[in-house]
Amino acid sequence: MTKPFRIAVFASGSGSNFQAIADAVNAGRLAGDSVTDSPMHPRLDVRIELLVCDRPKAQVVERARQLGVPAFVFRPKDYADRETYEKEILERLQALEIDLVVMAGYMRLITNVLVEPLYGRLINIHPSLLPSFPGLDAIKQALDYGVKVTGVTVHYVDGGMDTGPIIAQRSVEITPQDTEESLAARIHEIEHVLLPQVIERIARGQVQLQGNITITS
Ligand code: GRF
Repeated sequence: MTKPFRIAVFASGSGSNFQAIADAVNAGRLAGDSVTDSPMHPRLDVRIELLVCDRPKAQVVERARQLGVPAFVFRPKDYADRETYEKEILERLQALEIDLVVMAGYMRLITNVLVEPLYGRLINIHPSLLPSFPGLDAIKQALDYGVKVTGVTVHYVDGGMDTGPIIAQRSVEITPQDTEESLAARIHEIEHVLLPQVIERIARGQVQLQGNITITS
């Protein structure tokens, strides 16, 4: 029996990356019989156990409902402070024995309540080649700066703003005709391939964290 690899996804918006992970699971790329089973590539059984969302009206909440993924949806203003709702989130993650938390468009900085216990099991996807253009509107930042190449980064979360050891990056060329919309579309396409790939590598134990450097085998 393959041991399940349980993930939780944190998201605040449309959730196209959440959908891409769910599609990869359902299509057998992250779980099931079609995932190769050999000594080098044992079968995977990745399960999305929870969506965490801080915006009740976000499209990702509806996606989770349609996919049958349980969701913890909350409004930060209902809590005394960030630490209080993060403690509740942590308890839920621990109760579900979550192996990996994937932040995919979660629009909040998180505190040590989550970062410390989850360090090394908490990743984020960001639409630029970090350390360039951290923070909000990374795609617009790249266009406004005039860089000719931008991209996508998946990294471990260390509590800073899009800092933390980098796991994988893909570049995207910017053309003179690009608008924020056209560039975002190409970046999202790459995100939807890269994020499930990184989850697969981590689930297979192929990503090693050594200080601030990661090594993927
Ligand atoms: C993605 O571009 C991701 O890189 C960034 O937020 C966006 C989320 O998009 N962190 P979606 O909600 O997955 O469609």
